[in-house]
Amino acid sequence: MTETKRYMVTSALPYANGPLHIGHLAGAYLPADIFVRYLRLMGEDVVFICGSDENGAAITIRAKMEGTSPQEIVDKYDKLIGETFKKIGIHFDKYHRTSSELHHQTSQDFFRVLNKNGEFVKKTSEQYYDVEAQQFLADRYITGTCPKCNHEEAYGDQCENCGSTLSPTELINPKSKLSGATPELRSTTHWYLPMDKYEEWLRPWIEDGTLNGEKHHEPNTWKSHVLGQCKSWLDGGLQARAMTRDLSWGVDVPQELEGSEGKKLYVWLDAPIGYISATKQWAIEQGEPDAWKKYWQDENSELVHFIGKDNIVFHCVIFPIILKAHGDYILPKNVPANQFMNLEGRKISTSNNWAIWVHEFVEDLPGMEDVLRYYMIKNMPEQKDSEFTWKSFQEANDSELVGNIANFINRVITLTNKYYDGIVPEIDINLAINNSIEENKPGNYSEEIELMLKHLDKIDQFIKGYDFRNALKEVMAISDLGNRLLQFNEPWKKIKTEPETVKTVLHLGLQIVGLLSGVSKPFLPFTSDKIQGLLNLPSLAENGGLASIKKSLMNGDSIVPSGHRINKQQHLFSRIPDKVIDAQIEKLNATLVSEPTYDPVKETATFDDFTKMDFRTGTIIEAEKIKKAKKLLKLTVDLGFETRTVVSGIAEFYTPEEVLGKEVVLLANLAPRKLRGVESQGMVLMAEDAQGKLGFVSPESGFGNGFTVR
Ligand code: MF3
Ligand code: ZN
Repeated sequence: MTETKRYMVTSALPYANGPLHIGHLAGAYLPADIFVRYLRLMGEDVVFICGSDENGAAITIRAKMEGTSPQEIVDKYDKLIGETFKKIGIHFDKYHRTSSELHHQTSQDFFRVLNKNGEFVKKTSEQYYDVEAQQFLADRYITGTCPKCNHEEAYGDQCENCGSTLSPTELINPKSKLSGATPELRSTTHWYLPMDKYEEWLRPWIEDGTLNGEKHHEPNTWKSHVLGQCKSWLDGGLQARAMTRDLSWGVDVPQELEGSEGKKLYVWLDAPIGYISATKQWAIEQGEPDAWKKYWQDENSELVHFIGKDNIVFHCVIFPIILKAHGDYILPKNVPANQFMNLEGRKISTSNNWAIWVHEFVEDLPGMEDVLRYYMIKNMPEQKDSEFTWKSFQEANDSELVGNIANFINRVITLTNKYYDGIVPEIDINLAINNSIEENKPGNYSEEIELMLKHLDKIDQFIKGYDFRNALKEVMAISDLGNRLLQFNEPWKKIKTEPETVKTVLHLGLQIVGLLSGVSKPFLPFTSDKIQGLLNLPSLAENGGLASIKKSLMNGDSIVPSGHRINKQQHLFSRIPDKVIDAQIEKLNATLVSEPTYDPVKETATFDDFTKMDFRTGTIIEAEKIKKAKKLLKLTVDLGFETRTVVSGIAEFYTPEEVLGKEVVLLANLAPRKLRGVESQGMVLMAEDAQGKLGFVSPESGFGNGFTVR
């Protein structure tokens, strides 16, 4: 007897500190939704879990910004996010909350087990304390200059500019986000997880896919950018990481433990455990309170985490360590992280309001949920960052959804109504029809069915390989097949001369429509339901619906049988008028002009402070890209009396050609630093707008090189 396999699929718990934007969808939610819908349609046993991440500094910072309490923040955004998911067709078996009692208990129990197993070490260390606000500062509450790239707004845990993981004490000029004051170091005691201790099993698990000497997964099924990040973590040396924090909001460290007072669990400890507590809640609601166990503790379950790239280390290193240290849990089979989606040339940013908010999209563009899904999947940042532009959104709708899929389905439905009064005609499987792949090549009904099955197999392979872009292309290829079938057989001409051929062609066309309904369901669920409606069939069974379509095709049975009456044609998609797109572009651009955010003026500098800095006029005489550094250009600046090599983070805004000959101001006595192996001897002054766009600060044209700016 073969054991039945099951899937436990999770999507990163979104912080309940803001609405969902398209970048969230593209990263962790749409791919998971497609994967889960598909597996289910093929009859697999899947539980799909998500929920609001309601602890940690992300929440308290937002509460402070909105002038309200953390509880109100999480209540507000949990509701908004939960509703938004539904509207865009993403359905979890359970969308839970990490503020729930069940979650607090579950994560505290985890902590107890790890503590009892001796996994933690208690350590006292110096951490930043804000004297004005009278509290220790969470990593996210401290900003300062990144020691690696000089970005001035790096967080205590991470620099969003260069992606390095940091600890607060590494920041240059640390500032408290609470009061703006420079924090001071005070000693505090925490529970640490010595991660280096686990390297022995972690490394082979990641690099070879083996666990306890046995095959766990095929390592080459993991995305290369995910493996790359994991390896660089391992190679950088794993360090002890504090699993508790001095915070007022979050899950308490179990009260019976000594020194627990005022301490909360680290949010990256409790949040992933949220997947488990959500599954427990699901099981309770199923009336089978123990049902969660087989999904999390049985080797026949395949655990898959869908996340964005900023979450890789937490899901590939820290959470697996925690699961294994606990002892009762399985490890993920894959963590198919996506990269980021940019918007109209800029990074999506919640704080700068540079985003398309999903709840606004569904309001502004009603009925276009699947257009958004389609476009996002087509441009999914699976291996590298991708880009959303409103123009290409319109283009994809008009040429692919309207021009290909809707066009085909509409023609088949219209012709069937016209010629046969909506009754599906009989086939003659021995009749020669024109092959839908190559014009003027004879084919027949069964060959066409074979072709359809081939595409179905490819969809299966692509989806199981987390390659949703290519899977979607296969869906469109099935629609192409249909369009060519009509084009090469021209039923509108042959209806007079070869009525039997037309019957077979349209019968086949209707089978392609039926298959399209099935294969589109994971990607375009609203459209699939509409297609079922056109075919006058009930909406496809979420459990096994596609498996039975496949079975029919393999057995030579029709998906839409002869004699069945279909419905009248109705548009599936329509062209998007320019004015709709222009309005969206305008709305987005309005955020640029109407709501700039200004940096606060820094602490007073004395005249002496100022004169310490030696600014000089210069001209850029050479410029080139630096390999593998998307943001950096290597510049040669002529100072008249000498030339300098400067590494400048402007590559996203200027090409080397554009900066050649630019007159600039250079900070000439900045201590040299090595960036990507190149020594940078100074800094070219740039202005940065609220959206992070950079522009040169230049002397009057033709002023001359080497002169002091004062
Ligand atoms: N809230 C986190 C983020 O948005 C993701 C948490 S994923 C979980 O980046 F595993 F911790 F739940
Ligand atoms: Zn940095």
